[in-house]
Amino acid sequence: MTVTVALGDRSYDIHIAAGALDRAGDLLAPYAARNRLVIITDQNLVPNQLYRLQSSLAAANIANVVEILAPGEPTKGWATLEMLTDALLDRGVERSDTLVALGGGVIGDLVGFAASVLKRGCRFVQIPTSLLAQVDSSVGGKTAINSRAGKNLIGAFHQPAFVLIDPTTLDTLSPRELRAGYAEVVKYGLIDDPVFFAWCEANAGRLMAGDPEARTHAITTSVSAKARIVGEDERETTGRRALLNLGHTFGHALEAETGFSDKLLHGEAVAAGMALAFRFSASLGLCPAEDAQRVTTHIAGAGLPATLQAAGVSADGKALVAHMMHDKKMEGGQLPFLLARGIGQTFLDKKVDLAKVEAFLDSERLG
Ligand SMILES: NC(=O)c1ccc[n+]([C@@H]2O[C@H](COP(=O)([O-])OP(=O)(O)OC[C@H]3O[C@@H](n4cnc5c(N)ncnc54)[C@H](O)[C@@H]3O)[C@@H](O)[C@H]2O)c1
Ligand SMILES: [Zn+2]
Repeated sequence: MTVTVALGDRSYDIHIAAGALDRAGDLLAPYAARNRLVIITDQNLVPNQLYRLQSSLAAANIANVVEILAPGEPTKGWATLEMLTDALLDRGVERSDTLVALGGGVIGDLVGFAASVLKRGCRFVQIPTSLLAQVDSSVGGKTAINSRAGKNLIGAFHQPAFVLIDPTTLDTLSPRELRAGYAEVVKYGLIDDPVFFAWCEANAGRLMAGDPEARTHAITTSVSAKARIVGEDERETTGRRALLNLGHTFGHALEAETGFSDKLLHGEAVAAGMALAFRFSASLGLCPAEDAQRVTTHIAGAGLPATLQAAGVSADGKALVAHMMHDKKMEGGQLPFLLARGIGQTFLDKKVDLAKVEAFLDSERLG
């Protein structure tokens, strides 16, 4: 299955198939200048997926240079970027080389940013191996590192040349990371695809259990939705791309409250954030209470937090709204919120009264 991101001369294909990693030699051959590729990955991928990739490249007579980084969010910073770019330059990486990001969103964001600046910009290919990276971060060209002031504040738009997604790589991902990534899958249904949301309700169990067909369907649907939205609004200027932030403003406050730590993974915060966004919409009379209930039930049923309590957050509305004010989407004292008129009917409201958000969160905290 191939999905194309249509961006003129920056267009690229996303190839999705179980077992695609074992055919990487053939699929990546067009990007292997002088018959070599530069792979960057993290330690957790070494014993399984890196081995598969290298075997496949070897079978196609493509040489590879590998840099292995430490896993975890701190890798997405200046220190590793400097170390990585120096190491690549020491190893003679040229502008015509292609960097291959094999890993989750941390590796994808870091390698994408490195590719955007190395020799003033070289090509890169994404091989996302976490569900979150397969359905979200590997597509769309947002690359970034974190800085002292916050997450993803230093970066560039730099589209990959190709994305290879093999759902079987998820077999070695931890169940918790898998569930966290699933929150971003559900997001696409909630944004504008009620049929897909209903599919999620019926098939989440199969997907979590590892059914390759269910995984491939969920990934393909998610990626197609993201590719379409990115094609319409590559640099988030018209508001279309902002729809992808459903649940992220509430989620950001929860992540900030839990210190952006393992206490609450990004996808877990987004899951709770989407449930909150729907219940908030219902409390404003915008969305039927039954729809908000369906969202809450599905998220909780998938083993994800759907309430402040389940997210392990006891802060009050005032404290959570204070975190929101530091959101990078804040504009002139207003924070654009994604609200819903129902499942699959998300819209951007730029004039939400933060006092109402605060009161709503207080009611959630007590309830
Ligand atoms: N660029 C974008 O548009 C975008 C969108 C969403 C998120 N992000 C970024 O993505 C990052 C989060 O991505 P993530 O959730 O993939 O985190 P991650 O890269 O840290 O991966 C999660 C963990 O799973 C491990 N892992 C990944 N694939 C594995 C596999 N197949 N088998 C075994 N272990 C595996 C990793 O080593 C890591 O320990 C954040 O930094 C976030 O800012 C970027
Ligand atoms: Zn997200």
